[in-house]
Amino acid sequence: MAKVLIGCETSGIVREAFLALGHDAWSCDLLPSDTPTNRHIQGDVREVMLEDWDLMAVMHPPCTRLCNSGVRWLSKAPPGRTLDDMWRELDEGAALFSSCWNVPHIPCVAIENPVMHRHAKARIENYQPPAQTVQPWQFGSDPDGPDNEKKRTCLWLRGLPQLNHTGQLDGSTARDSVHKASPGADRWKIRSKFFPGIAAAMADQWGAAAQARHAAAAA
Ligand SMILES: C[S@@+](CC[C@H](N)C(=O)[O-])C[C@H]1O[C@@H](n2cnc3c(N)ncnc32)[C@H](O)[C@@H]1O
Repeated sequence: MAKVLIGCETSGIVREAFLALGHDAWSCDLLPSDTPTNRHIQGDVREVMLEDWDLMAVMHPPCTRLCNSGVRWLSKAPPGRTLDDMWRELDEGAALFSSCWNVPHIPCVAIENPVMHRHAKARIENYQPPAQTVQPWQFGSDPDGPDNEKKRTCLWLRGLPQLNHTGQLDGSTARDSVHKASPGADRWKIRSKFFPGIAAAMADQWGAAAQARHAAAAA
């Protein structure tokens, strides 16, 4: 089975999907896990990733300053913040993305983030366009289930195949709760929430790819 690190995850949704298939999966975040588990490392993903991992998937690293929807704040800071803050946070977000994307010793790497603006792309070392974009509803079959949602998600992939859709839905009934989340302390959590159908597809398809690489390297 593959040794898998899920970076920037407190919810455990992707970690649990890999564990369910028997992988040696761990999540890692600066914050504690949302639920009790002995499979979460509280720390900086840039340090934890230095161990030997077959696969690292970084789920939605902090994206507020990288994503297209926030580009306006780079010319007019939100109330109580300065433009210097905005550009510094952009540099920090891009540096974290760069470190994860360019980690040399992990053969299979996936990073998940929304659509990025040009200032972010210009700051990322070895930037490449995302391998694919997916929507949660493409991985669901129950119109009333948690996957029947719209949220365009980009996947940057190295050493991993594009995800095949696993759902039967066509998007016509997909909800938009992520964009409609009302302002409040938990808004960022709702907006960065992950979906079980995509997580299961990642564990199934990427777990198999990482395991095959691991076996080939060991042979
Ligand atoms: C937008 S949230 C992603 C939440 C994730 N989708 C989930 O389901 O738990 C970004 C997360 O990145 C974490 N983070 C930020 N910098 C980090 C770092 N250097 N190392 C590890 N985690 C980090 C934050 O604490 C936050 O939980």
